[in-house]
Amino acid sequence: MTSGIDMKDYLRTQAALVENRLTEAVPGDWALPPQLREAMMYSLLAGGKRLRPILVLAAAESLGGSQDAAMPIACAIEMVHTYSLIHDDLPAMDNDDFRRGKPTNHKVFGEAMAILAGDALLTHAFHAVAQAGLKHGVPAEQVLAITADLATYAGAKGMVGGQVADILGEQGLTSLEELEYIHRHKTADLIVFSLKAGGRAAGATEVQLRALEEFGYSIGLAFQIQDDILDVTGDEAKTGKPKGSDAKQQKVTYPYLIGLEESIRRVEHLTEAGKQAIRDAGLPHPDKLLAIADYLVHREF
Ligand code: IPE
Ligand code: IPE
Ligand code: MG
Ligand code: MG
Ligand code: MG
Repeated sequence: MTSGIDMKDYLRTQAALVENRLTEAVPGDWALPPQLREAMMYSLLAGGKRLRPILVLAAAESLGGSQDAAMPIACAIEMVHTYSLIHDDLPAMDNDDFRRGKPTNHKVFGEAMAILAGDALLTHAFHAVAQAGLKHGVPAEQVLAITADLATYAGAKGMVGGQVADILGEQGLTSLEELEYIHRHKTADLIVFSLKAGGRAAGATEVQLRALEEFGYSIGLAFQIQDDILDVTGDEAKTGKPKGSDAKQQKVTYPYLIGLEESIRRVEHLTEAGKQAIRDAGLPHPDKLLAIADYLVHREF
């Protein structure tokens, strides 16, 4: 099924395309405090897998759409993701000192600047989405739907709500249902957004959007379970962030609640379920999406 795609090569190429565009995401002639620009670009260009933007592009491609038209949306979701990481690492949240192999934003620029750089990246993401319509020919109707989706999946009902539940759930949480709620929102929602937005940019039908959503929730939940696993078993040199952060913050995670082996089984099972949703939908070019799902099961960072 996935033969013929060299995934490492594909992911590296796609990440480089995205990074190239991210370097010019904030117009050079905009007058902004130099420190703010520096703090925004420090985290935005610190590396990272660029999974979410790659999913935007792969979803567009799965429907035969143009990657170029989807690129501003790919950049937008990476800005939202990066802001979420900057804030996630703050002392008031997970209190982590390393991210993407470098000191966290607040360690370099201070907490106030880290908060504001995150705010600016979040806001700028909506500017980027608008560019898909203004400069890349995505129909206004689709841009409108993508904008509403971004606000919903990233906001109170989505990622922010999940982060709140994560913070409130520290120590006290005991049920797998509550933990699944946290993971679906803090992590899977941005992944679902990425897939649907790529689909929308390529003119997806409602049925195709539903398949992309189902795929997103399955691989998104698997992705956060794997993140929890790597927090226990990972190699810091590869993940670029401190091991044992969850235990330090007394987080309830999948490995904590159901053990490592069962967590690994769930990652495999969810990935298979997600792939089935894509296969059933009969998209014209599903290969990249399926290959990405497989690749993530064995990721080490
Ligand atoms: C880390 O996301 C935070 C989670 C939602 C698990 P990634 O693992 O995608 O981090 P980067 O972008 O590659 O650094
Ligand atoms: C982070 O979850 C989710 C978001 C940033 C929205 P984690 O707190 O587990 O992510 P890492 O492990 O710090 O990357
Ligand atoms: Mg966290
Ligand atoms: Mg964290
Ligand atoms: Mg984690």
